[in-house]
Amino acid sequence: MAKQKILKFPPGFLWGASTSAYQIEGNNTNDWSEWEKSPARLKHLNKEGKNLDDYICDLSCNSEERLDEDLKCLKELGVKSYRFSIEWSRVQPEEGKFSVSGIEYYRGLIEKLKANKIEPFVTLWHYPLPLWLSKRGGWESGEMEKYFCLYAKKVVGEYKNEVRFWTVLNEPDIYSGFAYLTGKFPPNKKNLFTYLMVINNFIRVYKKAYLAIKEVAPNAQVGISKHNIYFEAYKNRPINVILKKLADWWWNFYFLNQIKNYEDFIGLNHYRRNTINYGFNKNENKIVSDFGWEVYPKSLYCVLIDLKKYHKPIYITEHGISDSRDKYRPWFIKECLKYVHRAIAEGADVKGYSHWSLLDNFEWAAGWTQKFGFYEVDRKTFKRTARPSAKVYAEICKNNQLVID
Ligand code: NOJ
Repeated sequence: MAKQKILKFPPGFLWGASTSAYQIEGNNTNDWSEWEKSPARLKHLNKEGKNLDDYICDLSCNSEERLDEDLKCLKELGVKSYRFSIEWSRVQPEEGKFSVSGIEYYRGLIEKLKANKIEPFVTLWHYPLPLWLSKRGGWESGEMEKYFCLYAKKVVGEYKNEVRFWTVLNEPDIYSGFAYLTGKFPPNKKNLFTYLMVINNFIRVYKKAYLAIKEVAPNAQVGISKHNIYFEAYKNRPINVILKKLADWWWNFYFLNQIKNYEDFIGLNHYRRNTINYGFNKNENKIVSDFGWEVYPKSLYCVLIDLKKYHKPIYITEHGISDSRDKYRPWFIKECLKYVHRAIAEGADVKGYSHWSLLDNFEWAAGWTQKFGFYEVDRKTFKRTARPSAKVYAEICKNNQLVID
C-alpha cells in the first residue's frame, strides 16, 4: 500500500471561502441591476436564444435574508476567514447619505462571524457602483478619489474594531477590460484610451484610499485583490518569451508596481494559465472546467513564485473552478494546495487561501450558468446543499494540513 504523505501548513494559516455582495445578497439596485434589465441587453440575449432568467441577478442567493444559512455553511467548512464585500449602493444609496440599515446589515454579519471565530476579510469594492455614482461617470470620473475615500473612511470607521483585513479593490484589471474594452460589463464601452485612463484612475484612487484607511485605522491590514495569470512561453521560443515579458509587465505587474508602497499584503486572485505560442491562449486544454477554462494546477505555484519579489505577505483571496458536478473540484483543491505548499517551502510568504466560492452565485456576464460553489443553491427555494468537495476542504481546514494518498 502506498504511504500517505502529510503536508503541514504554517500555524495560523488563514483558510477561507470567498463571495461578493452582488453575487449572493439579492435585492441590490446599482449600475449592474439597471443594465441587466436594459432593453438593449434583453434584446441581445433574446437574439442569442438565451434563457433570460439565467442572466438576471434579482434575489440572487438571497443571502441578505439568509446570513444564518451562509454561516452554517462556513461553520461546516470550518473556515477561519470569510471574504465578502460591502455593496456600496447598500450603504450609500444616495450621494452624501449613508444608510443606517445598510451599515447595520454588515455589522450584523461581522458580529456573527466574530462570534464564531471567523475572521472577516472585507472587500470595499467588488464591481457594481451606486446609480448616482455611475451617472457621474463612475471610474472614468476625476472625482472618484473623493467619492471613494469618503466611502472607505466611513465603512472602515464603522467596523475598524472588528475588521482587520481590508481589500480595497477587487480585480480592477478584469473589470476595466470587460467594462471598457470588450463592453461586456457596464458601462459597456469599447475604447482603448478610456480603458487606459480608467486603469490609471484605479491606481490613483487605490493609493489615496490606502492612506485614508490608515488615517482611520492605522493597524488595519490593507491590500488589493489582483487577478494574476500565469503566462507561459511555449518551449521558451524567443518570440514567445518576448510576448510573455510584455504580458507579465502589463497584466501582472504594472498595477502592483505602482502600488507597491501602499499595501500591507498582496491579495491574489488566480484562475488560469495562458500559454503563448506565436499568439496567446494556446493552452493544451487537457482538462477544462464548465466555463471552458483550462484546469492546470501548477499555474498557482508559478504566480505565487512571481510575487515573491514584492516581499509582502500574500493571501490567496480567490481561486476556484466552475464545476457543477464536482467532477474535478475535490482533486483540483488538493492538487493546487500541493503547489501552494511547495511555493511556501520555496519562500513565498503565503498566509492564507480563500476558495471561490462558498456558494454557487451570479457569475456576472455568464449569469447563473457557472457553478463555482462548495454549496449548490436551489434557484427557487435557495436551499444550500454541500457538494462532496466541501468535505474535502473541511478536512484540510480542520487539520491545517493536506493528506496525499
Ligand atoms: C473573479 C471575480 O472576482 C469573481 O467575482 C468571479 O465570480 C470569479 N472571478 C469567477 O469568475
